[in-house]
Amino acid sequence: MLWLKNARVIDPAQGVAGIMDLAARDGRVLSVGRDIAAGLPDGETAEVIDCAGKYLFPGLVDVHVHLREPGQEEKEDITSGSRAAVRGGVTSLLCMANTEPVIDNQALTALVADRGRRAALARIYPLAAVTKGMAGAELTEMAELKASGAKGFSDDGRGVQNGEIMRLALEYAKLTGCPIVSHCEDAALAGGGVMRRGRASAARGLIGIPGAAESVMAARDVLLAGETGGRLHLAHVSTQGTLAALRAGKAAGWDITAEVNPHHLILTDEDVPLTNSNFKVNPPLPTAEDRDALLAALADGLIDMLASDHAPHTWEEKARPFAEAPFGMTALETALAAVWTYLVRPGKLTAARLIDAYSRRPAERFGLEAGTLKPGAPADMILFDPDWEETVSADNMASKSANTPFLGRRLRGYPIKTWVGGRLVFDRLAQPPV
Ligand code: NCD
Ligand code: ZN
Repeated sequence: MLWLKNARVIDPAQGVAGIMDLAARDGRVLSVGRDIAAGLPDGETAEVIDCAGKYLFPGLVDVHVHLREPGQEEKEDITSGSRAAVRGGVTSLLCMANTEPVIDNQALTALVADRGRRAALARIYPLAAVTKGMAGAELTEMAELKASGAKGFSDDGRGVQNGEIMRLALEYAKLTGCPIVSHCEDAALAGGGVMRRGRASAARGLIGIPGAAESVMAARDVLLAGETGGRLHLAHVSTQGTLAALRAGKAAGWDITAEVNPHHLILTDEDVPLTNSNFKVNPPLPTAEDRDALLAALADGLIDMLASDHAPHTWEEKARPFAEAPFGMTALETALAAVWTYLVRPGKLTAARLIDAYSRRPAERFGLEAGTLKPGAPADMILFDPDWEETVSADNMASKSANTPFLGRRLRGYPIKTWVGGRLVFDRLAQPPV
């Protein structure tokens, strides 16, 4: 038995916050509360950990992760990505289908799920593609993909350009009960842009992507969710236009959720240096006005959840000039620390809402047994030290890639122990910081 004493427990699913003990046995939470000793079985030996001054959170559930396997293992693979996940406090994740080949058939879906189980760290669930080869033309066999372990469907990496295909996708996905995860990007509007269009792109002489490239497709997909009654999840929301569409769709009672990524809440287009393509991401870093609106929407629940959009790329690829480097940032190992440092610590986001948005709500939306420390729930949890400081460094990452804009920054607030199913899968104290 594992007995964690005097932790600051936050578990929004139980409406619980306060100093408590938690006992776990056989991979599951046994009890949690202020004085649980009386209810614990007699004569059993327990590993006791004094957690005074630390938080105990349900493990994070990250619905937007690129693990790159199969086919792009030079960037990441399921094992390295799983290590990165548990270092960042992520105990369950959904991985994206834009691999090589694309995860669009049963064999590949099952393979990813199986390799995730073998890595035996975080719980890995595949999202399968919406269209074959992510070519945007022909729908995949969603019911079969679900039977092989897919928890939803996404052509993330590019938008589904054809509205009729998206309408059909929402119709068919409804039969599986799984959400369609939409990467909203109108290719014609995005043009060849490399950062957000506006003053900042003009000042740098870089081709801009107008905010409408995202908002227009988000509005379309929201309307199609209304038309079909399908389940829609908007990935990496980054514009006020998308928020307006989301607000309207939710007000109409349609089955829509949305996620925002930490980098879109912390950085803006003004932060983009011409000489550092680690700041290049899709959708691009927002204007300050959009960033503020995103944060307000996350805080008030219009945006349901946080997700990292962990998108590893090799050093060589990211060393190319800004306009030629690929879009994407690694984030699994820094997402929680960055949000704590830049949003929770300064009082812009409460710890309770952070855990609600990065654990409870994503588990609920994608039907995962996770996101709470209720008795009987899997003992997926993190011990979090709000004062643990580290400088973000490529030498200190489990991910194969280190393309994060936070390199060199000192972040404060890190998970120091991560358990999955009651098993300790990461201990920061055993790995001193660089
Ligand atoms: C992602 C990638 O590299 O696969 N890149 C990114 O900038 N976010 C694709 C995606 O999530 O759209
Ligand atoms: Zn995307």
